[in-house]
Amino acid sequence: MNTQEILHKYEKNADNLLGLLHDLQDGHERHCLTPESMGAAAEYLGLPASYVYGVASFYTMFSLKPRGRFIVRICQSPPCHLLGSTDVSKELVKALGVGFGETTADGLFTLEMTSCLGVCGVAPAMMINDEIYGNLTATRVGEIIDDLRRVK
Ligand code: FES
Repeated sequence: MNTQEILHKYEKNADNLLGLLHDLQDGHERHCLTPESMGAAAEYLGLPASYVYGVASFYTMFSLKPRGRFIVRICQSPPCHLLGSTDVSKELVKALGVGFGETTADGLFTLEMTSCLGVCGVAPAMMINDEIYGNLTATRVGEIIDDLRRVK
């Protein structure tokens, strides 16, 4: 879906700004908001561009810099932590060669921490783009990353 198609999913109402920005970010291949997409949202909703930029830069769920094609979010909340998310996190850092908040040089992966994903029954868990992975082990997480590298 292109920017115009995303914009026209919404009524021209300032209350729709967060949802609109979320969809614009999801629709970008590098999972970010660009000056162009924020400008288009501002114009569409009749808001000052500086206001839209302020909102986008305030919320941590929005990224203003390009991220990887795959956003890897490992849960750090207590149930996952107790069941081994620290080991899984170390393996992810090793497998990807980047720290949290960073993107691999090939632009394929961005590694992030998140709070509870709502799937504590399969802790430790992570989410890659929209897909949940549970019952993780250090070995399994390495295999998942290798599989994603192969399908790029
Ligand atoms: S604590 Fe990790 S999914 Fe709930």
